[in-house]
Amino acid sequence: MPVSTFSPADPWTVSEYDFPVTEPVETQARFLLNWAVLAPSSHNRQPWLFAVDGPRIHVFADPSRWLPIADPDRRELFVSVGCAIENVLVAAAHLDMKVTMNWAPDLSACASTTGDDRIRVATLRLDPGESGDRDRAPLFPAIADRHTNHEAFDNRPIPSRVLSTLEEYTGDHTRLWLTDDESIRASVYKMMARANAMQFVDREWREELAECIGEGAFGTPWLMSKIGQLAVTHLDLSGATTAKDRERMDSAPVLAALATDADTPKAQVQAGQALERIWLAATLRGLQLQPMNQILQIPTLKNEVRMLLPDPSMHPQITFRLGYGEPESSRSPRRPLDEVMIEGADTNVPA
Ligand SMILES: Cc1cc2nc3c(=O)[nH]c(=O)nc-3n(C[C@H](O)[C@H](O)[C@H](O)COP(=O)(O)O)c2cc1C
Repeated sequence: MPVSTFSPADPWTVSEYDFPVTEPVETQARFLLNWAVLAPSSHNRQPWLFAVDGPRIHVFADPSRWLPIADPDRRELFVSVGCAIENVLVAAAHLDMKVTMNWAPDLSACASTTGDDRIRVATLRLDPGESGDRDRAPLFPAIADRHTNHEAFDNRPIPSRVLSTLEEYTGDHTRLWLTDDESIRASVYKMMARANAMQFVDREWREELAECIGEGAFGTPWLMSKIGQLAVTHLDLSGATTAKDRERMDSAPVLAALATDADTPKAQVQAGQALERIWLAATLRGLQLQPMNQILQIPTLKNEVRMLLPDPSMHPQITFRLGYGEPESSRSPRRPLDEVMIEGADTNVPA
């Protein structure tokens, strides 16, 4: 059965009403992946692969879509995969299917490998006969509404009860810090300016970003993508980027850091799951979110961010701004589901 039989032409229009309720569980598992691919990912690289085997979805990270210059520790690679996993869990919960998640036993060993082989992350086993996760199910309507908002927010304060609710979506081993402290904002702004300056003098970094822009990863029309690619390759845009970042940060009432108690691939996947839950919960409450991660992409700056956390023994995995504002009108492109499915994968992982 070709995957596309059960995939909409525009991935963002996937509808629960097309869910193949009368088809075998394998077909249902494939359909759930239509929601997985709507997840956010660093530079929209969508670095995930899936294999379906009966009621099991095997999830892999795809190192061929990793950004070695911007993401030297592969933190963003694994965070992105975590976001996709979370969408499957939320969609299954909404459709009242139980899912058991088992971590791939060799995930921690992959921390030291840098090969091109796909990295097994986890197996999700569906059990349609059992009830779905009641806490996750309400997040479902936000999956297709969630997006990264790059525009200025309107600086309206966020009620503290809304912020407390978001904190409830972090999981074990993960913590969310939300702040409106002006001295922290000033420190973050200075770090952002330094990060932009360091990245734009690095030719390899510029070329990596330029390639993503040129491929149309961010959804800009073809001509704009090619102009953007040329500009980023040849010009030092750090001053303009910092000015824009400052405007964005100043318009956001809250800055946030999501941190984990370990700095392993598993912890980074868990951070991605928490990020996606928080993002979906924020979307349901009319909030806009933009990750601003360059301060975590440079090891010395990442350490400075860690020292700003109330608990510096934790490891920052993602930093973002949060606020109210106009949603963006268009959605970023997604690879077709067929492109991220692999057939006949080694399924030697615990069921
Ligand atoms: C791990 C991770 C890091 C990201 N870092 C940034 C960032 O530093 N700046 C930014 O504007 N967006 C960032 N994003 C958002 C992605 O660019 C965005 O998810 C992707 O382009 C897809 O667009 P969408 O979120 O609107 O669906 C990040 C997303 C993830 C998951």
